[in-house]
Amino acid sequence: MESITKRFGNVVANDAEDFDASPGEIHCLLGENGAGKSTLMRILFGLCRADSGLIYVNGEPAAISCPRDAIALGIGMVHQHFMLAERLTVAENIIAGCEPRIHGLLDYGRAREEILKVSHRYGLTVNPDAVVEEISVGQQQRVEIIKALMRGARVLILDEPTAVLTPPEVDELFSVMRALRASGTTIIFITHKLKETMEISDRVTVLRDGRTVGVVNTADATSDQLVEMMVGRSLPIHDDQRIPAHEMIALELKDISAAGRRGSRARLSGVDLAVRRGEILGIAGVDGNGQLELEEVVTGLRRPSQGRLIIDGQDVTGFDTRRIRDKGVAYIPSDRLRRGMVSSFSLTRNSVLGMQHSAYFSSRGVIQEDVVREHAESIIDLYDVRSESIDQPIGSLSGGNQQKLVVGRELTRPHSIVIAAQPTRGLDVGATHYIREQILASRNRGKAVLLISAELDEIFELSDRIAVMYEGQIIDMRRASQYTEQELGLLMTGQRNGV
Ligand SMILES: Nc1ncnc2c1ncn2[C@@H]1O[C@H](COP(=O)(O)OP(=O)(O)OP(=O)(O)O)[C@@H](O)[C@H]1O
Ligand SMILES: [Mg+2]
Repeated sequence: MESITKRFGNVVANDAEDFDASPGEIHCLLGENGAGKSTLMRILFGLCRADSGLIYVNGEPAAISCPRDAIALGIGMVHQHFMLAERLTVAENIIAGCEPRIHGLLDYGRAREEILKVSHRYGLTVNPDAVVEEISVGQQQRVEIIKALMRGARVLILDEPTAVLTPPEVDELFSVMRALRASGTTIIFITHKLKETMEISDRVTVLRDGRTVGVVNTADATSDQLVEMMVGRSLPIHDDQRIPAHEMIALELKDISAAGRRGSRARLSGVDLAVRRGEILGIAGVDGNGQLELEEVVTGLRRPSQGRLIIDGQDVTGFDTRRIRDKGVAYIPSDRLRRGMVSSFSLTRNSVLGMQHSAYFSSRGVIQEDVVREHAESIIDLYDVRSESIDQPIGSLSGGNQQKLVVGRELTRPHSIVIAAQPTRGLDVGATHYIREQILASRNRGKAVLLISAELDEIFELSDRIAVMYEGQIIDMRRASQYTEQELGLLMTGQRNGV
C-alpha cells in the first residue's frame, strides 16, 4: 500500500501511509487507539475507499473498490465483531458466505467435506453441524477464518482477534496462524498486546496519527522500543507505593445467587466476597462465567435471588442503581456503549452523566453550564482525552478516548468504592497504562476496588487478592502473590485438579 490517504471530515485517519507485507509472514500492525490501523485494513479489503494512494497485490496495481474485488485478489478479513447468522449451522454459514460459483458449494454435503478438509489442514477444529449460537467465541472466529480460506484468501487480515479470546484459545489461534504461515499465507495481525506481538510476528509496522513511523523485524526489537515508537515516549513502571489495607470492609457479598442472562450458563450461586478499604480484589475468569452478572448485582442492575449485598455495613440488597451510586460507588462498566455513556451526547454532558442534578453542578434546579464545562475540561485535560471540542458527541471519539472520559468521570466523582469491569478492554498501551495507574492511585487513597477482568496480566498487575470465578461460583481465592500465571490460567478453565 503506497501513500494511502483517507480523511473523515477534518480527521486524517491515514496520512500518506505506506505498508507492505510479504508472502508467508505474520505482520503485526501496532498503534495507539485511533492511529488508523482498522481504516488502513478496511481500505485493503474494499470496505472503505482511500482518497488517494495505490495498492499493489503480487506486484500488480490493484483496483479494490468493494470486498468482492479484494476476495477475488485473495484477500480475506476477519472482523472483531463476527458477522455470522446465529441460528444457522457452521456449514450453512460458510455456504452463505461464499459465492456459489467459486467453489460450487451449493450442496451441504460438499460444503461439509470442504470445511473438514480445511479445518484438518490447519488445525482449525470446528463441528460443521453445530449451530453458531451454541459455540464459543473462539470457535466462531475459526468459522470466520475457514470462510476466508475457502474463498481462497492468501492474505488474511485479523483485526484484534485476541481481544475476545481466552488464553488457551489464543494459543490455539497462534498455532493456526503458524500453520497458515508455513503454507505461504500472509497474515496481517492487529493487536494492542505487545506480548502477543513479540511471540507471534515476524515483522511489525507501527502507526502513529495516521502515519507509518517504522517497520522492524520482531527479532531485532524489544517491547519497550515498540512502546516508544507507538506513543513517542517510554512508559514508566507503575510507582506502586502501597499502604496496608484497612481491616474495614467496604463492600460485601454474602451468599449471593442470581439468575444469569438469557442463554448464559453463568447464574451466580453462593458468591461470598469482601473488599476492604485500600485493597484491590481482582475477579479472574474467562468471559461468560458470571462476571457480567456479578457486575450487575453489585451496581444494582440485577436483583439477587438470594443473599445480601452490604456497603459500609449497611444492607443495600435490592437498592436500585441510583441509591447504590449514592453510597459512594464509582462504576466503570464493561459495556461502555450501553452503560457508560450516551453516544450522541457531547463530551460535556457525558462528563457529568448521572451527576448533573447534584448540588455541585446545579443550583435551584438549574444546571450550572460553566461549572459543568469546567469539569469536562479538567477531565479531558487530566485523562488526555483526545478530541476536537468538548461539544462534539462522545460517539465520534475512538474507543480508547471514550473509555478515558468514562474512567475520568467515575474516578473524579466522590466515591469510596470502585467497581471496575474490563476497564482497559480495547485500549492501547498508553491508555491502558494510565487507567491502571489511576486505579492503583484510587486504592492508595484508601478506596475499595473490585476489579473484574478477563485479562490475566491486568489481574496480576493490579490485584492484592484474586478470586477465580467459574460457572457462576468463586472456586478459589488467595493473595495475588500466591498464584502463578499458569495456575490461575488452569483454574479459570475450571481445572482444579493438578494445581
Ligand atoms: N467512519 C468513520 N467516520 C469518522 N471518523 C472515522 C471513521 N472511521 C474512523 N474514523 C476516525 O479515523 C481515525 C482512525 O480510526 P481507526 O479506527 O482506523 O483507528 P485504529 O487504529 O483502528 O484504533 P483502535 O485501536 O481504537 O481500533 C480515528 O480518529 C477515528 O475516529
Ligand atoms: Mg481498530
